[in-house]
Amino acid sequence: MNTLNTARFPDVRLRRLRRTPALRRMTADFDLTASRFIQPIFVTEGSGVREPIESLPGVERFSLDTLPGEVRVIAGLDIPAIILFGLPAEKDAIGSGADDPDGIIQRAIRVCKDTAPDLVVIADTCLCEYTSHGHCGIVDSSGNLLNDPSLERLAAVAVSQANAGADLIAPSAMLDGQVHAIREALDQAGHADIPILAYAAKFASAFYGPFRDAAGSAPAFGDRRAYQMDPGSARMAMREIEADLAEGADLVMVKPALAYLDVIRQARGRVDVPVVAYNVSGEYAMIKAAGRLGWIDERAAALEALTAIRRAGADAIITYFAKDAARWLAGAWE
Ligand code: PBG
Repeated sequence: MNTLNTARFPDVRLRRLRRTPALRRMTADFDLTASRFIQPIFVTEGSGVREPIESLPGVERFSLDTLPGEVRVIAGLDIPAIILFGLPAEKDAIGSGADDPDGIIQRAIRVCKDTAPDLVVIADTCLCEYTSHGHCGIVDSSGNLLNDPSLERLAAVAVSQANAGADLIAPSAMLDGQVHAIREALDQAGHADIPILAYAAKFASAFYGPFRDAAGSAPAFGDRRAYQMDPGSARMAMREIEADLAEGADLVMVKPALAYLDVIRQARGRVDVPVVAYNVSGEYAMIKAAGRLGWIDERAAALEALTAIRRAGADAIITYFAKDAARWLAGAWE
């Protein structure tokens, strides 16, 4: 027997399992299904509004009366969850609109829960859409984001969102101690059963550009690099995740997704809570734009990107592609 030859040319036939769509589907590590998607929704004042967002083709801002139609579409596609972002009529230095019991987000949460009680309604807990300066908390006169004074504001926002019926609170300001402050406030307010999805590893990313157009939340001065994470810091991301878990987070998030697949993978190996990835606005816009130009196949590229995020280790994905991808996946195996 020629062992050398066998070692050099083993009869490995890897293509056997790729022969048919059913075989490929059955043997893949990850199955991409709508049950893993979370659809973001932007809600605005007014009535009869379905306002397209130029930098996010296919995504619209809804008023409270057009929102139920959209929510029914999403629920009808078997997408289990939405994440809501509110655009208030007025902004001020402390983001008063964010914890107004009749604020845009609180009313939107109620509308969504009334429309589709089983849909998981996630509230993004931050101040940047509600502050006149666009930062995620309270700033001092030189524009620094003040950590501890902002925690009280975030805790009040979380409680008001839970009071309105939010199923999941998702703090996204990247302040130290925010999960602890919110957990304590929720417990005291009788919301011990409401879980926290911590935006734990949130990077200061250029890929948030279209979102800031959509939500009108671009900082009026400076940037978010003194509170969001540096793109080069994967180790710090693990510390953020561990800190948030120690403070009581029930799920953790890595954001953005595609440029941080290594961080998703590391998080997956490190913790046993669900890991959620946020496939952010700029990641969506790039695929949309190239698709529109005919430079890539939008559908194939989107499904491939979502598969990659799952493969990296994400249990669920917040994505502007949720509705489309759910439809595509329902259509055929390809
Ligand atoms: C609020 C928030 C942002 C995003 C989600 N929540 C913007 C930011 O941090 O500037 C971005 C999401 C996206 O780009 O799709 N803090």
